[in-house]
Amino acid sequence: MPVPVIVLNFGHSVLNSLEDYTQAASEIYRHYRQGQNVVAVTSAQGDQTDVLMAEARRIGPEGEAKNLPELLQLGERRSAALLALALERIGAPAFVRQARDLGLTAEGSFTEARLTGLDTPQLLQDLKDHDIVVMPGFVAIGEKDRAVLLGDGGADLTALYVADQLDVEAVLLKDVDGIYEVDPKSNPEAKRYEEISWDDATRVAGPLIAPRALGFARKQQVPFRVGTPGLPSYTRVGPTTGAMKIAPSPQKLKIAMMGLGVVGGGVFRRVKAHADQFEIVKVMVRSPDKYIDQGYKPELLATDFDALLAAKPDVFIDVSGGVEPALSHTKTMLENGVHVVSANKQAIAAGGQDLLDFAVTHKSQLRFSSAAGGGMPVLEMCLREAGRITRVQALLNGTTNYMLDEIAKGRSYAEALKDAQDKGFAEADPSGDVSGADAAAKIRLIALLGFGETIGLDNIPQDTIDNFAPDAPAKGAWKRVANIWKDRNGFSSALELKDLSKNNFIAQAEGEEAHAVFDFDDGDQYRIRGKGAGRWPTTESVMADLFDISATTLT
Ligand code: HSE
Repeated sequence: MPVPVIVLNFGHSVLNSLEDYTQAASEIYRHYRQGQNVVAVTSAQGDQTDVLMAEARRIGPEGEAKNLPELLQLGERRSAALLALALERIGAPAFVRQARDLGLTAEGSFTEARLTGLDTPQLLQDLKDHDIVVMPGFVAIGEKDRAVLLGDGGADLTALYVADQLDVEAVLLKDVDGIYEVDPKSNPEAKRYEEISWDDATRVAGPLIAPRALGFARKQQVPFRVGTPGLPSYTRVGPTTGAMKIAPSPQKLKIAMMGLGVVGGGVFRRVKAHADQFEIVKVMVRSPDKYIDQGYKPELLATDFDALLAAKPDVFIDVSGGVEPALSHTKTMLENGVHVVSANKQAIAAGGQDLLDFAVTHKSQLRFSSAAGGGMPVLEMCLREAGRITRVQALLNGTTNYMLDEIAKGRSYAEALKDAQDKGFAEADPSGDVSGADAAAKIRLIALLGFGETIGLDNIPQDTIDNFAPDAPAKGAWKRVANIWKDRNGFSSALELKDLSKNNFIAQAEGEEAHAVFDFDDGDQYRIRGKGAGRWPTTESVMADLFDISATTLT
């Protein structure tokens, strides 16, 4: 079964500052974790094209200049590189491709060229190899092999053209969540179309969508959506015009957190950046003074759980470690109608099915994507595909992956461990990382969500890497692989240290990267990847859960 693909276009208005690239990466990750491969098409940041144009006017000839596209395309190319960097930070697999690499050709005027071709097999191969391809919009390769531009709104046009060639959906991301009858910024009561025809959009959607792009969509009958990063609402543009709706807005959510370590600190910063959607009301830590010294406001910090409850949060984020008191606190929150986002694999694994049922009983959401795989969406995949999974093979401990690579490079066990701790991959007490207990807790979560099986830690054979020092270099690469499967003998799982052949997809993960392979009962296979540990990949996974909860509070 081919992996579904979506084309996302990031317009100028959603790339106004460097922070916006973080949000754009987040948007891509939310699609990736839903099982889609993504082609991300970039516009230039803010008014960068105007700045480049002014430079061209000072240096270049008067009137038409054939080399103008060489300069003006730099804004889109810079955006593509920045977006790829933002994706790399969160561990999402991103690959930048230029118009020339992808055979994106055009003819006619070199500032308003007409797209004529795309090397679709190349793009599909890139998606297969990398899952996410980032490409600059607005530029193509014209006659005589020169760069040419696609005119105003050119990046929208690129996205629509690529989507049409791949026969997949495009979403144009703007600073408003769709097409409105009148500008919603000056008319707060303005109504958003759920759905609008190409013809009607041509009347009301300018200047949100450039006429050239809309004209192309109308002529070629390309359906698409217009939305904004972080919100689930959008307008669908296609053959018919549907109802107009008042745009729902997400409720502003009060957040209480437990833990402010490597991941907690990342989550704190990312949540704060979304002050319109979230407000952090209390953070529970062991030693407030340490955090006050780091600049956290004293009134935000608490040492006791009652203070968290008293702050009446809507969402509780558990970024602490260990089963207790985290499990009890999680249950208390759920009982009080508070949604929970947890990165705490031990607590969730210990709670097991009972805890999932407990959340349902109390009509509270319990989300814990980051509890296994870091930024690799292994639990999302389990939830989505439960029932047809026959085997999961995965790297589930970033510390181990990183250490085994470093040891293979000749470093000692102690050096490798110290480094994994300094980089924030290992737990405060790294004994579970090396013994296998950390990965085993994650195996329990995969067993629960992917196979509906409850297993105890003692039922998972675990190879330790404690003091690992191989006698000879690996034939391929040392990896400790979690193997979870069911066959005619029933359900089994193990954590096995293996010298894997270099051709094996799992062996190709480097450092803290994680790879996983899912086998399905119809013989299909699916591969996912990400970074298995570290501040930003894990933070992103927590944030994605939080945004998902936010999306359920639209009123
Ligand atoms: N210590 C864990 C690891 C963190 O190394 O994978 C992510 O769960």
